[in-house]
Amino acid sequence: MNLEEIKNRAKEEIEKIVDLKQADDFFKKYLGKKGEIAKVFDSLKDLAIEEKKSIGQQANTLKKEIEEFFNTKNEEIKNAKNQTNPNHTAEKIDITRPGQKIQRGHLHPLTLVMNEACSIFQTMGFEIAQGPELETEWYNFDALNVPKDHPARDMQDTFWLRQNVSEIKNQKSKIKDNEDGFYKSNRLLMRTQTSPVQIRYMESHQPPLRIIAPGRVFRNEATDAKHGAQFYQLEGLMVDKEVAASNFKAIIEDFLKRFFKTNVEMRLRPGFFPFTEPSFEIDVKRPDGKWMEIMGAGMVHPNVFRSAGLNASVKPGLGWQGFAFGVGIDRLAIVKYKITDIRLLYQNDLRFLNQF
Ligand code: PHE
Repeated sequence: MNLEEIKNRAKEEIEKIVDLKQADDFFKKYLGKKGEIAKVFDSLKDLAIEEKKSIGQQANTLKKEIEEFFNTKNEEIKNAKNQTNPNHTAEKIDITRPGQKIQRGHLHPLTLVMNEACSIFQTMGFEIAQGPELETEWYNFDALNVPKDHPARDMQDTFWLRQNVSEIKNQKSKIKDNEDGFYKSNRLLMRTQTSPVQIRYMESHQPPLRIIAPGRVFRNEATDAKHGAQFYQLEGLMVDKEVAASNFKAIIEDFLKRFFKTNVEMRLRPGFFPFTEPSFEIDVKRPDGKWMEIMGAGMVHPNVFRSAGLNASVKPGLGWQGFAFGVGIDRLAIVKYKITDIRLLYQNDLRFLNQF
């Protein structure tokens, strides 16, 4: 019985094995009940005691070595199989079959427009600022020079929060409204415009500054094709020692040209906002030839600077000057994409949305 010979043979055979079936046969041949190793152990009984001991030990070592051959090979075959087919099945891939198209998601048209508008202003040095959608009456109206009796504050236009008087009184306040007996400016509302971000930003940043403030605004109004109770604005503010209406016009013209990618016709009309003086309204010509108002704007009112704790001047060089604007993002979207009804932007109808 040549143990060395058995080992060499086993080694040669194991190297040629390529699948689990062959490995199984190998196991039976060497390690099985009637295998070669078993035969070696059987033969021990005829040997003298000394030989029995030494050959027995050698046979044990051989058994371990052959087991090791088998285990290593077995692992090898299994791993190779897992790599080509993780599901352990014998399935083959037909690379000539046409593939299944994966449905791709995309951004909402309002997001596209907002992103595009922001990045155009960013190239002109405007930084993005943000403020809360739930605002106080102070930031949304008082600080912006909106008179106490202004219709925009009415129940008609503003979504007010239901609060009890003591709750409002107990908060720190900018101004005390004695007539009403409580701190009215602390009252909470859903912001009706992004203009409060002007005040918030100027409170914590010294000019010169250029910011844009994208965001959602809320109005307690009936909806129609051009108005929604909720829409998006992009506020802009530029403050420096010498800023004129002509700077505003140049920047907006450049913006519109880049946004619409054509020489879109625009016009500036006189308007009125309590927080700008003079104030303008900007219209653009729609593809159907009709004018559409897309933004309000003007030169920042000195009272607005004062609310934010800044020194204001109407004369160049003596204090801060600036322009501000508020673009309706929904309006930009309907002009750009020739949409006839603003409400389509909020109905989540995939037949509509999949066109973008
Ligand atoms: N906040 C105004 C609105 O909502 C727009 C505006 C912004 C006007 C800034 C002037 C300056 O209509």
